[in-house]
Amino acid sequence: MNLPFNKDRVLSCLDGVLNNNTRLKVVAERNDGLKVCNFLNDIYKPLFPEIRVNETVINTETSVCLYTEDELGVITSTVSISWLDGEVVPKALMEEAALINKNNEVTLQIGRFYIGAVKEQSLLRLYFKCFVELAGALRVSTITGLVKSKDLRLHEGRFKADVLVRNTGLRFGSAHVFALVQWSLNRLGSRFYKWLGDLQSTTPKIFTAQDWNGYARPFASVQTQVQQELQQEAVKHLKGKVGDFGCGSAKIGLMVSDNNRVRSYVGIDASIEMTRIARVLLKEIEPINEQSIHHGLIEDYTLTSFETAVSLNSYYSWPNPLTTLKHIYNLIETDGIFILATPNKTLDLVLLDKQAKKELIAHPDYKEFREHNLKLINDKDANLVEMSELIKQVQSVGFKVEACHQEFYCGGLNFLVLSK
Ligand SMILES: C[S@@+](CC[C@H](N)C(=O)[O-])C[C@H]1O[C@@H](n2cnc3c(N)ncnc32)[C@H](O)[C@@H]1O
Repeated sequence: MNLPFNKDRVLSCLDGVLNNNTRLKVVAERNDGLKVCNFLNDIYKPLFPEIRVNETVINTETSVCLYTEDELGVITSTVSISWLDGEVVPKALMEEAALINKNNEVTLQIGRFYIGAVKEQSLLRLYFKCFVELAGALRVSTITGLVKSKDLRLHEGRFKADVLVRNTGLRFGSAHVFALVQWSLNRLGSRFYKWLGDLQSTTPKIFTAQDWNGYARPFASVQTQVQQELQQEAVKHLKGKVGDFGCGSAKIGLMVSDNNRVRSYVGIDASIEMTRIARVLLKEIEPINEQSIHHGLIEDYTLTSFETAVSLNSYYSWPNPLTTLKHIYNLIETDGIFILATPNKTLDLVLLDKQAKKELIAHPDYKEFREHNLKLINDKDANLVEMSELIKQVQSVGFKVEACHQEFYCGGLNFLVLSK
């Protein structure tokens, strides 16, 4: 499936990723595109005559091309990264990959990867570091690409890649057979990170859409009392056109489905599984107001503005909270209200579990729900923010704080009523 983001967003993530890596350059101007094209035509095309190389495929709206050059400005390597199925990995193979790997809906694709000179092999590490960091910044959980079958041992061994199709039948006019492989960010392994260098401590902890996909079903079916209290309080502030940022399975949508102060509800979430479940549930409940679910990142949503908005228990997974908060601020109309709730460092999951168990112990999904909660907060880089820091952040993007407290989740949750 094609990724729900646009080129500006990818370029801005790449900017951050390449901050400490001045060797890799992005094709931005027509001139760069021409240079890369000439390089590919001179060096790459004779090796893989059936691969299409021209300027129009180098710099497209759904891909970026990276390259390196030597001191004399001669290109030494290049790669294309795409988020459109079929652009660098043939569409039929991406469809096959999606069938084999059911969680394959979010993947970056790499192609036309070529490192020219043998002495430049250290570039392989720079490129892989960039792929992994870019995927992390975009919260994409897998990277898919075609590799020569003769290199499969390296990819399976060191990179822990999944071989999706061992022999694709593709040779691109060369003597090599190509295989389709997929690298999962959460399973790359210590050997890989050692080889990459300093990434190990951060990347596996990044929240990906995949983390939420696995959580979606138990999350939708289990409802604890503390969650319900929080949602009920949030809903009191909602009216008119309502936006729910990181809506999950749309528990707020269900709650306002018979609320005649709410004209419309739009739930926005990056997890395909959460949004799928949300749509099914909202349809079933037959809301009296207009309700819709948008699959995509909050930071990319620009379709409508909102009179009131809410974001519950999503902030702690945002890699750039200020960017996300500013984006939400821009989507809210003047005088609008935004309810923000996110856990702080005193969040005590053991205590909350003890309370929840009393009513939910027999629930068939409770165990899974509980395990997921623990994993998300403990194993990932959950941003459990202090109230004072959160207030600074929301004020810095323009919000006024109308009220704030820590009365929910036994003190473990920051609850803020903000206005624009
Ligand atoms: C713990 S769930 C909370 C769901 C819902 N707000 C609730 O309280 O029932 C967090 C949700 O935030 C979503 N999320 C996190 N960051 C996001 C982003 N930047 N854009 C869209 N959704 C995001 C995740 O996909 C996940 O479904």
